Amino acid sequence: MARFSILTAVFALLTTVHGQCGSGTPDSRVTGSGSSFTATTGSRTVYSGSDYRAAIQSALDSISSGQRVSVIASGSIGANSITISSGKIFEGCGTINVGNKSGRGAIESLNTSGVQIPYLTMTGNPYFGLRFYGTRDLVLGKITMNLSGGLGIRFDRDAAANSNVKMDVINVTGAGSHAVETWNIDGLTINQVIARNVGESGLLLQKTTNARVGLVDGNNVAAGTGYATFRMANNNGQNSNGNYNTNVYIDKVVSRGGGRGIFCVSQSGGVVITSIDLANNGNNAILIENCYNVSIQGGTVNGGGEVRLAARSEFPNNRDISITLRVDNNSVRESPCGDNTNWTLTGNAAKNIC
Ligand SMILES: *[C@@H]1O[C@H](CO)[C@@H](O)[C@H](O)[C@H]1NC(C)=O
Ligand SMILES: *[C@@H]1O[C@H](CO)[C@@H](O)[C@H](O)[C@H]1NC(C)=O
Ligand SMILES: *[C@@H]1O[C@H](CO)[C@@H](O)[C@H](O)[C@H]1NC(C)=O
Ligand SMILES: *[C@@H]1O[C@H](CO)[C@@H](O)[C@H](O)[C@H]1NC(C)=O
Ligand SMILES: *[C@@H]1O[C@H](CO)[C@@H](O)[C@H](O)[C@H]1NC(C)=O
Ligand SMILES: *[C@@H]1O[C@H](CO)[C@@H](O)[C@H](O)[C@H]1NC(C)=O
Ligand SMILES: *[C@@H]1O[C@H](CO)[C@@H](O)[C@H](O)[C@H]1NC(C)=O
Repeated sequence: MARFSILTAVFALLTTVHGQCGSGTPDSRVTGSGSSFTATTGSRTVYSGSDYRAAIQSALDSISSGQRVSVIASGSIGANSITISSGKIFEGCGTINVGNKSGRGAIESLNTSGVQIPYLTMTGNPYFGLRFYGTRDLVLGKITMNLSGGLGIRFDRDAAANSNVKMDVINVTGAGSHAVETWNIDGLTINQVIARNVGESGLLLQKTTNARVGLVDGNNVAAGTGYATFRMANNNGQNSNGNYNTNVYIDKVVSRGGGRGIFCVSQSGGVVITSIDLANNGNNAILIENCYNVSIQGGTVNGGGEVRLAARSEFPNNRDISITLRVDNNSVRESPCGDNTNWTLTGNAAKNIC
């Protein structure tokens, strides 16, 4: 809990820089509504017309590194992308409705440093709501996405790596795929991921190291799938020297209904989860499969699918898994036996462990 308040304090500091969305004197503002939008930078009009996307991009292109655009207007960008270049601060104060541009983000920042998005409210069905790769010192603040499909925030797999990424409160409702999917980040701090009625994962970490997350909270996430409110996959938490010394710290995972609660797979690990609260998951409340140095230090599981340690033959078996937990109205199974598993279980669950 101490770490949770430290994260909250870090983000409180970040948000005091500009108070609230659009406050103070933004270097550029996008105003208007319907089919009439204006982008004003200082006293210059840099766009005037019916195209909301063009107004936003003109505003972004008119400022320098270190300057801020506040999009006050609400509107639709259609199946297009907005691009944010290095050092720019983008605030979405109105509601930005987006469409599906295949393989692309509605808003993207690629190969950049020092980009900040302190506020954003997005609706629509993007391919990716926000898309990133090759970023350094990226800061996302209060991001609210009420989507009708698509994936919320994505860091690309087959592209340049990212370092020092910070997110405050990411609140995603209605994504068809994941709320937040990372690949290739070294140094990630997230205060909260709140996922509601999301098709695949709430938070999915892959090839991500040195991560600290306050809360992952999912309700009806991953229903009918093998995904989970919190999933670690594809060597997540494996340090560059190959070992799994703890480098991923999660304060709390909460999950209700949906598919899995917590899922660690494909040679991930190096993680401590301080506390969990899972109930009525439609698939395994917890599944740990071919993972190394995973510690769940406390909390409860009530009902839902079996708590399971398992292994696929393609990777080495689980090792150094330590679980202290109360499990009720469910069962706990370890099969095959892991290498150096340490269970400290309470509750009424049936146990079939080694
Ligand atoms: C990002 O940088 C990589 C090289 O590091 C390059 O291959 C790629 O084309 C760049 N992408 C963009 C959009 O600049
Ligand atoms: C999300 O958007 C839908 C319309 O797409 C709306 O009906 C719903 O009330 C919104 N939900 C929230 C929580 O704002
Ligand atoms: C998340 O966003 C929805 C709108 O999509 C809002 O109704 C809800 O209150 C937000 N939840 C949190 C915890 O901010
Ligand atoms: C976006 O369009 C592609 C085809 O171009 C489709 O495969 C995908 O499902 C669509 N996504 C959403 C969220 O509509
Ligand atoms: C697990 O991580 C802890 C903390 O870094 C480390 O002390 C321990 O050696 C690791 N255990 C294994 C078996 O990797
Ligand atoms: C177990 O489930 C029953 C209902 O099926 C519920 O009454 C009870 O509170 C649950 N146990 C715990 C410890 O929550
Ligand atoms: C197993 O975990 C408990 C609780 O964290 C701890 O007290 C104990 O020392 C551990 N045992 C081994 C053999 O690591």
